Amino acid sequence: MRIVLGVGGGIAAYKVASLLRLFTEAGHDVTVIPTEAATRFVGVATWEALSGNPVTNSVFDDVHLVNHVRLGHEADLMVVAPATADLLARAATGQANDLLTNTLLMASGPVLFAPAMHTEMWQHPATQANVETLRSRGATVLEPASGRLTGSDSGPGRLPEPEAIFEAAMALARGLQESVPGHGATEAPLFPLTGRTVTISAGGTREPLDPVRFLGNRSSGKQGVALAAAARDAGATVRLVAAHMEVPAPAGVELVEVETALQLREAVLTAAADSDVVIMAAAVADFRPADVSGTKIKKRDDAADPVITLIRNPDILHELVAVRDAGGNSQLVVGFAAETGDAHGDVLGYAEEKLKRKGCDLLVVNHVGSDKVFGQDHNSVVILSRTGSEPQSASGSKQDVAAVVIDRISAELSKVFPRT
Ligand code: CTP
Repeated sequence: MRIVLGVGGGIAAYKVASLLRLFTEAGHDVTVIPTEAATRFVGVATWEALSGNPVTNSVFDDVHLVNHVRLGHEADLMVVAPATADLLARAATGQANDLLTNTLLMASGPVLFAPAMHTEMWQHPATQANVETLRSRGATVLEPASGRLTGSDSGPGRLPEPEAIFEAAMALARGLQESVPGHGATEAPLFPLTGRTVTISAGGTREPLDPVRFLGNRSSGKQGVALAAAARDAGATVRLVAAHMEVPAPAGVELVEVETALQLREAVLTAAADSDVVIMAAAVADFRPADVSGTKIKKRDDAADPVITLIRNPDILHELVAVRDAGGNSQLVVGFAAETGDAHGDVLGYAEEKLKRKGCDLLVVNHVGSDKVFGQDHNSVVILSRTGSEPQSASGSKQDVAAVVIDRISAELSKVFPRT
């Protein structure tokens, strides 16, 4: 099969060398057309050596061969990877300002775009409109993968793995368009939380005893941070109220840092006032020292050892539900429960009782123990709903779990508070 492989000017161009190898090793004849910008990342010599064919990006080379017409007509399949925001825009608007875009206009076979760019660029309405246009004309635009991007940011925008692009390309060539996601319109909304504001509390509160000591807990904040990133990637405006965390807050969210349960309460209630969703993922101390010493507590041989008296902290989750039910913003309130189970009951039994007591819409239940959940990268949860629908399980990395929880929240939100 004859394949034209267009390469856009993004850092992911280096991965396309592996894609090219997959094509040639499968016996296909590949002509690479890099854009001018692509050759700044991977040079013409690499493409020529790997493809065994001459490579140019200019319509003015070998003019007598009328390359764009020949390549476009002869190609059984065109694959563009990485399809940058610029390349998608030029293809969608039918521009013909280099050999690749000229050839795209001449293509008579299936065309597959594999996008790669920063999340914001991918989610920008301009890019999404271009993707829509290309799909409506019959091109296949793959969804980018999610994960680490060029800098320290992460989210949707990674080039799909070369093997995934290869499989999609082969399916298209076999006429199996319907089996390739990204061909034509997609049924599920890409950004189900667009226009929604989500407040998430994360981390563990610290309750001071004196200027140097505190009562704390083992929460790392990883699950809350993963939820904030997942909500952001689903299009939401995200406010992260962070108590002590061992991981940095994700980019693109509004961060409010707090220390104690009382500060967290204040910040969450303020942020919740105009939020569509509040997720209480923070490990909030149920008690705080009754007296906080203004100076360091010293040990003294001439006095008894100190006794710490604790007093109850307010239950923030319960209060959020009460404020909402008393006429506050229409919103979905989601709690987390860390349970161990004991001689008197099991994890799910305690969780169901907690869901009733707290009155929240969804309760995400963790089974915790000395080696479970806290600080770990993996999690296993059960999502319970106030409406009594079947418990939903999710496990995997904290990012995987976050994606399931955010999907569930999006679905509940559109049921309970549909967009007007
Ligand atoms: N929570 C809260 N305010 C508190 C304590 C907990 O808002 N003072 C929230 C947590 O953020 C979580 C949920 O309540 O979303 C359940 O927390 P958990 O510690 O499991 O429950 P507790 O109410 O503390 O109940 P218990 O310790 O008796 O199991």
